[in-house]
Amino acid sequence: MTATSVSPSITAFLEWQRLQDHYGDIASVHLRELFGADPRRGRDLTVTAGDLSIDYSMSRIDRDTLPLLVALARAAGLEDHRDCMLRGNPVNTTENRPALHTALRLPASAELSVDGHDVVADVHRVLDRMATFTDRVRSGRWRGATGRRITTVVNIGIGGSDLGPRMVCQALRPYSHPELSVRFVSNVDPADLLAALDGLDPATTLFVVASKTFTTIETLTNATAARSWVTGALGEDAVDRHFVAVSTNAAKVAEFGIDPANMFEFWDWVGGRYSIGSAIGLPVMLAIGRGAFGDFLAGMHTVDRHFATAPLESNAPVLLALLGFWYANFFDAETRAVLPYANDLAALPAYLQQLAMESNGKSVQLNGTPTDVSTGAIWWGEPGTNGQHAFYQLLHQGTRLVPVDFLGFAAPAADLPLSDGSGSMHDVLVSNLLAQRRVLAFGRTPADLAADGIREDLIPHKVMAGNRPSTTILAPELSPGVLGQLIALYEHQVFTEGVLSNINSFDQWGVELGKDQALQLHRAVGGDGVAEGVDSSTEAIVQWYRAIRDG
Ligand code: F6P
Repeated sequence: MTATSVSPSITAFLEWQRLQDHYGDIASVHLRELFGADPRRGRDLTVTAGDLSIDYSMSRIDRDTLPLLVALARAAGLEDHRDCMLRGNPVNTTENRPALHTALRLPASAELSVDGHDVVADVHRVLDRMATFTDRVRSGRWRGATGRRITTVVNIGIGGSDLGPRMVCQALRPYSHPELSVRFVSNVDPADLLAALDGLDPATTLFVVASKTFTTIETLTNATAARSWVTGALGEDAVDRHFVAVSTNAAKVAEFGIDPANMFEFWDWVGGRYSIGSAIGLPVMLAIGRGAFGDFLAGMHTVDRHFATAPLESNAPVLLALLGFWYANFFDAETRAVLPYANDLAALPAYLQQLAMESNGKSVQLNGTPTDVSTGAIWWGEPGTNGQHAFYQLLHQGTRLVPVDFLGFAAPAADLPLSDGSGSMHDVLVSNLLAQRRVLAFGRTPADLAADGIREDLIPHKVMAGNRPSTTILAPELSPGVLGQLIALYEHQVFTEGVLSNINSFDQWGVELGKDQALQLHRAVGGDGVAEGVDSSTEAIVQWYRAIRDG
């Protein structure tokens, strides 16, 4: 089988039927019973990948479930699909492209030939150029048009050209150059650009215009406005010292007026949402330097190797995918929450939303027929402990089942002691993570409440049903290498869920129609033209908007 051959829906396999029978046995079994009957559960139901240790003991599975799920993955040809992707076969079938983000993190000594061409050599040629450039900016040898050193980098991009570098720069804040700050602009709402430029001096600001296609309206609009901001203050000749581009489209970059010598390229086999290891990571390398960026890529490669070689039974991304698929398709879980107990990972849920939902938000199979399984779940989240005081109430006592990923780290980048000598603030953070997963799993029974003397009429309100599943991903610290591992873990989880759903995780046709219509409507909204062929509601809003705008 190849990844491009048409396979039947997973529901056609005998393994699906077996899993369905098994679901009947386990659906009502409580995690209290599972832990009570199996004292080794908490130690045994863990898996490691690189520095990541994943505890999945608080999952709604017993010792028979995983083998059944793995058998289903094998029946779906997961290993073959994985190998096709890693080899560079055109697994993005609707665009006839490979999805070779894993090549971005191969060591220079590796070789990977696609259509007779060694892509690893290309990758390292660009990485070397990025390293030379970022060394110059970081050391102050790269000067702005007036001879002053660069103190702020502004990345202009959206989607995959924004969310990855934004999330990683924030997460690796403690590793960042102390005299170089990085800001991000993505939204075409001018408030975003104006806020990012607030307090900046054009003479000390460098813009990275990041766009795979270099045709994205938001990015080009923001970049054009930023260009005027620079040239208005420093003159046309300043563009070369204050703008660099990251793209696959050299012609469009040149058309925009950025010197191709200041462009860092990547390739159409890198999907936007999988591009953080490519030149799209330039703001990250500017912030943390070439060495730490190398550690970040090495971390990704560690998990790529694990995904490629570990048996499915102990393959961390496969396991996470199987659990996600299990909850979505058997327990009707429509969403899943990612709750990092690390404030620096505040942007991780938004990053994962694009990764997972743009990849797997599909409703046709590879052969174009409708799916009969539940595909991409809705991913969302917030860092703990903030979320505890916002939406955890619904996680604990609501009517919906929301599987949770907790993320925790043993050592914080910096810690503060508690004044009473009872440990540190980070100890409090970790205690909260541990408490939440316990409460979700085990809840509080009416008997517990009665034993605690709770008034009878309050007991129904205070009962916590428990049996709400979570997975806990732990690592020693939030280092560049660990963050790389974490991203690759989720990338391969998303891919695996796509294989189980028999869909193409690498296209995003659903986004295109909105882009086209926005361009058409801009003619009416921006000028005084007519919004031709639109519905009466749109027409009325265009009139309302123009009347207020034009006074
Ligand atoms: O939202 C659709 C999308 O095509 C994403 O897949 C991509 O990450 C984003 O737009 C930005 O595209 P580009 O990097 O080409 O500007």
